[in-house]
Amino acid sequence: MPEKFYITTPIYYPSDKLHIGHSYTTVAADAIARFKKLSGYDVYFLTGTDEHGQKIERKAAEKGMDPQRFVDEIVASIRQLWKTMNIEYDDFIRTTEDRHTAVVQKIFKKLYDQGDIYKSEYEGWYCTPCEAFWTQTQLKDGNCPDCGRKVERVKEESYFFRLSKYQDKLIKHIEENPDFIQPVSRRNEMLNNFLYPGLEDLSVSRTSFKWGVPVSFDDKHVVYVWIDALSNYITALGYLSDNDEKFKKYWPADIHLVGKEIVRFHTIIWPAILMALDLPLPKQVFGHGWLVLDGDKMSKSKGNVIDPVKLCSKYGVDAVRYFLLREIPFGSDGNFSNGALIYRINSDLANDLGNLVSRTVTMIDKYFDSVLPKASDTRAQDTELVEMASGLAKEVEASVNELQLSAALAHIWKLVGRCNKYIDETMPWALAKDSAQKPRLGTVLYNLAECIRIIAVLIGPFMPQTPDKIFAQLGISGNTDLTSWDSLAFGRLTPGIKVLKGDALFPRIDVEKELGTLNAQLQAGKPPETPEAAQISIDEFARVLLAVGKVVSCERIAGSDKLLKLQVALGQETRQIISGIAKWYPPEELVGKLVTVVTNLKPVKLKGELSEGMILCAEDSAGRLSIISPEKEVDHGCQIR
Ligand code: MSP
Repeated sequence: MPEKFYITTPIYYPSDKLHIGHSYTTVAADAIARFKKLSGYDVYFLTGTDEHGQKIERKAAEKGMDPQRFVDEIVASIRQLWKTMNIEYDDFIRTTEDRHTAVVQKIFKKLYDQGDIYKSEYEGWYCTPCEAFWTQTQLKDGNCPDCGRKVERVKEESYFFRLSKYQDKLIKHIEENPDFIQPVSRRNEMLNNFLYPGLEDLSVSRTSFKWGVPVSFDDKHVVYVWIDALSNYITALGYLSDNDEKFKKYWPADIHLVGKEIVRFHTIIWPAILMALDLPLPKQVFGHGWLVLDGDKMSKSKGNVIDPVKLCSKYGVDAVRYFLLREIPFGSDGNFSNGALIYRINSDLANDLGNLVSRTVTMIDKYFDSVLPKASDTRAQDTELVEMASGLAKEVEASVNELQLSAALAHIWKLVGRCNKYIDETMPWALAKDSAQKPRLGTVLYNLAECIRIIAVLIGPFMPQTPDKIFAQLGISGNTDLTSWDSLAFGRLTPGIKVLKGDALFPRIDVEKELGTLNAQLQAGKPPETPEAAQISIDEFARVLLAVGKVVSCERIAGSDKLLKLQVALGQETRQIISGIAKWYPPEELVGKLVTVVTNLKPVKLKGELSEGMILCAEDSAGRLSIISPEKEVDHGCQIR
């Protein structure tokens, strides 16, 4: 019997535009679920939508729509997004489904009957966008501490859950189970910021709106977010229903994968509810970092969201999935920038992996008439490559088990890199010139093809469309013996199969052209600016570091009519900056000029050249660029404020 593995994402708020950041949790959970399936587990992967609450009620009313119809439309688009992103979930739970609401009512009643829920009065501050209640001391400058927006004063009768009763038991559980909250920084945060200072009982019902699960024994009240939303993880499995087979089989969850901002709900409130229900706790809650845009969290109101559908249709789902999983390091935030995305696609996918596959298949085609040769002349030169390929599955598995997805991909790309180096070392084109070297040439190409097969099997969970394309080129499509977990030992590929040259796996992108288009798209995706959205705080402005630079040298970049390569002195250091001003400035005119430089931009490569900053220009209506230079002579390196 295979071991069970139950993984969940949070259930998503029905937002009409989920952005690329939202996709991260689901893509990461999907990759983990697929990897576990590949490695032999009986996996159950749950996602869904969190559809109740005042915010939805208000939005539907604004549109003159019934809330159910309002959410139905949005949820359909969310399901479509997951389809586009190749998310292979086993179940999709909606909190408006009867199978959920009926059980939420039972849970609420059970907790009330046993005295874990009691009636009292709630008074405090409510943030509608976050659907969160705050006490006076929790507010930040009188506003919501999470989103900074205005809060409303509310006072109403409410049912309370005895969260405080479970405080000591929770602390004990967290202290005794170091893996329960991961990464460890989040575990410390929960203990130090919330549990050790002490928990207050939690308001778990509302009378101020109607769009929620009615409390079965008091119809003035609806169940407020916590018990409703968090219970999805067990209602979906049939807990307290006529058929609880899945619940018996899959609960407790092996992993609740959540974004870092909702770790508190999943590691304090949810376990306390489970303790009250006398149910086992999830084995692990993992709080991942965010995908940020230039250091800022993506949000519709900030107008800085990136549309995942557009990205997928432009670059392909696998490239976008690869970027997300590679760019967000274990537990930390990762930055989205068009430059970083294109850099990853060009360098890791087109250059490293794509070229490896096409070079290998082309050489087998050319030197062996497309028939895979056998490895009859193995030498010491092959040992490192073969050992690396043989140990890869274990290494990747260990990283996935620690949810270090970026590291898992890095392991795979280490082998990709080693294969490319092996081609340079063995020089098959030189071996091909000498017929006596044919067995050696065959061995080299066999080793490469076998490494590519292993790489293709292991990237499948992360990039589900790519393996089949590679298997087709290797001539092993549909041969499950060669594409399964058990096939990952080195040497399974049988000589004699016919390889088939195919299209480039990941076509290279013209960086200049693409960055222009993407930035324009980002502009177009912004909502009409409200005065509030257009303004930034002094702190936000202060995050952009500007300095005066002096151009030391400047030259054109071969093959580009737009780009100049400048060496710019900035006080103690000199940086290379690539700037798209070639049309407006001959290189020699810029030498000695003082320019304005953004100094804390993430470096990018443009036309293969590293750019460590940006030179600011004014652009007139005809698109002509003019460098911004200080009015008086000042020292280079001085700050611009
Ligand atoms: N409905 C709640 C969860 C209730 S679970 C019982 C919720 N929904 S959400 O739609 O706001 O977020 C869904 C997931 O998307 C969360 O894991 C959240 O962290 C993730 N992300 C939203 N923006 C994100 C980024 N910019 N980057 C990475 N993940 C982000 O929270």
